[in-house]
Amino acid sequence: MRVQVAIIGSGPSGLLLGQLLGNAGIETVIIDRASRNHILDRVRAGVLEEGTARLMDQAGVGARMHAEGLPHNGFSLAFDGRDHRIDLFALTGGSRMLVYGQTELTRDLIDKRDADGQPSVYEAIDVAPHAFDGSRPYVTYEKNGQTHRIDCDFIAGCDGYHGTCRRAVPDSAIRTFEKIYPFGWLGILSEVPPVSDELVYANHPNGFALCSMRSHTRSRYYIQCALDESIEEWSDDRFWSELRRRLPVHHAEAMVTGPSFEKSIAPLRSFVAEPMRFGSLFLVGDAAHIVPPTGAKGLNLAASDVHYLFAGLREYYEDRSASGIDAYSARALARVWKAERFSWWMTTMLHRFPNTGDFDQKIQEAELDYLTHSHAAEKVLAENYVGLPY
Ligand code: FAD
Ligand code: DHB
Repeated sequence: MRVQVAIIGSGPSGLLLGQLLGNAGIETVIIDRASRNHILDRVRAGVLEEGTARLMDQAGVGARMHAEGLPHNGFSLAFDGRDHRIDLFALTGGSRMLVYGQTELTRDLIDKRDADGQPSVYEAIDVAPHAFDGSRPYVTYEKNGQTHRIDCDFIAGCDGYHGTCRRAVPDSAIRTFEKIYPFGWLGILSEVPPVSDELVYANHPNGFALCSMRSHTRSRYYIQCALDESIEEWSDDRFWSELRRRLPVHHAEAMVTGPSFEKSIAPLRSFVAEPMRFGSLFLVGDAAHIVPPTGAKGLNLAASDVHYLFAGLREYYEDRSASGIDAYSARALARVWKAERFSWWMTTMLHRFPNTGDFDQKIQEAELDYLTHSHAAEKVLAENYVGLPY
């Protein structure tokens, strides 16, 4: 088989890139090691920047997102028993976020790819990129006991943090930067109405909490937990009472509880690999960078990578110019590092770090107090939260 672009990974990055390229008449195949159902069942991010929503529109898959997504004009910072609303719409001159689960976005993209008859391979074993330092790269994988080879012009490594593409690059050609946080997020989904119309990010002596949602009847809640805890230790009752404790009284009293139908613990990490291009291999999304989830930047950053790479590849095929693909890594990384900075800052401001001294605790309190009294500080937060332009 031969295609123009072989895409490894059928997460949001690979699917969005595949759809945009397909619409532009550029042939792709998407190869994933997971099953279609596994990919469709994964529960992850939930808040889209306008840039991500625009890309979904550009890909021709925005209809359900606009019909079912919930536009959000602001969110709350809760600390010291009170709420402080960040009016994103007013502070940014008209930007808002859209609450629409990654699970739904993925489903829309997979359904469209199927409807268009674009090829995807699921449950592929030992997927590997080859010869990407030259002009004849190819991808191999095994399926049903047979080895398959796909020749291509380019390989898009959209295979997430644990994928194979970044690891295929020689150590001497790549530099990585990493920060591990000493806590995780315990998240649940429950079929109960959200505690508030908008998201609530809470800083409490017991740790961070986040009240989010997927719809008017489905809530997504997170609490900071220790890294050595397991979900078996967290009954639904224990989760709800700990969440209530970390919220201002008016939220705690308004909270509707019910059984959870998804419960998981995610570690928090900041990670960047530089550069994001190696010959004819491009790293995209989580394959190249991870942010801690505070601030909801992971999926949105994957989308901006896709935007830059799609623009470069289209220029290559339509105008026979390599300038866009040559600029891909530097363009993407400039935005990545600013989102890394923002996610690290939100995480540092809102979580309780083990062994924090009195000085660091006072600095965190001053940061929150400053934010609630300075319009300039609020503007900086809002500008970054809605996503820097691209
Ligand atoms: P992924 O979604 O990871 O997709 C990669 C794809 O590659 C997968 O389908 C995988 O099966 C496939 N793959 C992996 N290895 C191979 C291989 N060797 N061969 C072939 N295929 C392979 N972001 C937020 O903004 N907010 C959140 O609340 C949030 N929660 C998260 C919770 C978890 C548990 C995780 C893991 C991430 C979370 N994120 C969150 C981050 C967000 O989900 C990611 O940034 C986003 O999924 C990145 O998309 P991607 O397509 O680059 O990578
Ligand atoms: C969600 C996740 C986040 O990390 C965040 O900052 C906001 C919302 C969510 O899953 O809904």
